[in-house]
Amino acid sequence: MKIIQSAKSINALSVKWRMAGKVISLVPTMGCLHEGHLSLMRKARAVSDKVIVSLFVNPMQFSQGEDFDSYPDQFEKDCELIKNEGVDALFRPTSEEMYNNTFQTGISVESLSKGMCGKDRPGHFDGVATVVAKLFNITCPDSAVFGDKDFQQLVIIRQLVKDLNYNIEIIGAPIVREEDGLAMSSRNLYLDPDGRKCAICLYQAIQASQKIIRTMDKVPAAKIIELTKEIVARAGAELEYAVVVNVSTLMSDEIVNKNSVLALAVKVGQSVRLIDNSKLMV
Ligand code: PAJ
Repeated sequence: MKIIQSAKSINALSVKWRMAGKVISLVPTMGCLHEGHLSLMRKARAVSDKVIVSLFVNPMQFSQGEDFDSYPDQFEKDCELIKNEGVDALFRPTSEEMYNNTFQTGISVESLSKGMCGKDRPGHFDGVATVVAKLFNITCPDSAVFGDKDFQQLVIIRQLVKDLNYNIEIIGAPIVREEDGLAMSSRNLYLDPDGRKCAICLYQAIQASQKIIRTMDKVPAAKIIELTKEIVARAGAELEYAVVVNVSTLMSDEIVNKNSVLALAVKVGQSVRLIDNSKLMV
């Protein structure tokens, strides 16, 4: 596997592959990889001849006071994991490579970025949209794989691709969970044992909501949100938001339907922020 730091070099490699008729897929990550990330690489492998993984902790998507400086780094281990998935190239730029000192352009997917995580993390999705657009331009993939775990991010990237006419297929991949249902996340490493126990409340809220939907017709979203609030409070976590929204527009649903998603963010233990989501009618 090639490990490449320079945007110019990975671009040249991608152009060479394209000229040879190869189909290329990109998996963007910030490293500290787990099974969730690896599942995306397998999905990419299945649809392409060449898989590029990017590993870049993007300063532009972190606000002051967030965990940019302490974001977990396990580069050696990540390299091993990526190699074992048969990935063809790892793009690992420096911050200077991505944002030199004259950098001044940003992309904002306006209204989709405002609610949910965008409310609690102002500017976050502009940082995501900008870096993802740069990664697309640098690596020129035919497809790119993103996890449903970051549901709002995935909807925003689909919109970005549509609005800016990228000829890139966006492939979503299901959430990979721990045995007890906690969605895998690089940030789970921050949880102490009590926080880890408490963190299960996100999945419990999802499961309890799905159970109600299975037994009742025309369930008001407000009922699901109330139930989620109760479960999160009982676990001793702090709810940042719980919404029932349409899977592709992020517009609020009043009555749960087959396209409704419950999405929530909570703070657990010493302020570890966790998110989760699921379709409600499954
Ligand atoms: P990161 O948090 O490293 O996630 C990289 C990709 O892995 C995202 O598409 C995310 O949705 C997916 N992922 C994370 N946990 C998952 C899980 N448990 N199951 C399935 N997929 C999972 O998301 C980012 O990085 C960044 O915002 C990025 C897109 C790389 C831009 O900087």
